[in-house]
Amino acid sequence: MATTTAYTLKEFIADVDRIAREEQSAQVITGRVAPLLAKLVKNPDAVPAEFRRRPEGGRGRYMLHRAPHFNVTSVIWGPGDTASAHNHETWGVIGVIENEIEETRYRVAEAPGAGRAKLEVTRVMRHTPGAVSCLVPGDEVHRMHNSTGRDTVEIHVYGRDLAGLRRKTWAADGTEKPLVSPKYLNC
Ligand SMILES: [Fe+2]
Repeated sequence: MATTTAYTLKEFIADVDRIAREEQSAQVITGRVAPLLAKLVKNPDAVPAEFRRRPEGGRGRYMLHRAPHFNVTSVIWGPGDTASAHNHETWGVIGVIENEIEETRYRVAEAPGAGRAKLEVTRVMRHTPGAVSCLVPGDEVHRMHNSTGRDTVEIHVYGRDLAGLRRKTWAADGTEKPLVSPKYLNC
């Protein structure tokens, strides 16, 4: 239940704004943002209800704060939704509000042949409500999968605007494809 002392989205944004201005290191930024996001996701009401649900048959991706040095989105994964392995070109912190998500992290190595890479799984995590996951350069390639029959609601914080950014995605066999997120499909 929300109380007058619950940590709000506005307070979170102000805190991340200060941290992103004060710090340069992705490790330090994510290390400072993670406990704040953990506090925020414990209060689902911090995100307005309309940004915690998917449109009928569609994807739930909502920009909650957009700034040059970081942005905050809510992301709703439907049952069975998957984002195959992809990179971000920046730091990130992900927090789970509702249900759970499976996150697989990879080490990416060059493989013979153009447009291919060798993806080695470094860990598979199952994040439940209140959990946070940090992405830093060198360890920021992941696959996301909602293996449950319910929607999963998350907050994603990234150190740059992913919309329009040239990124990469990899199929299970290592085939590389360019990834450009249209609009706010920030994941
Ligand atoms: Fe992602």
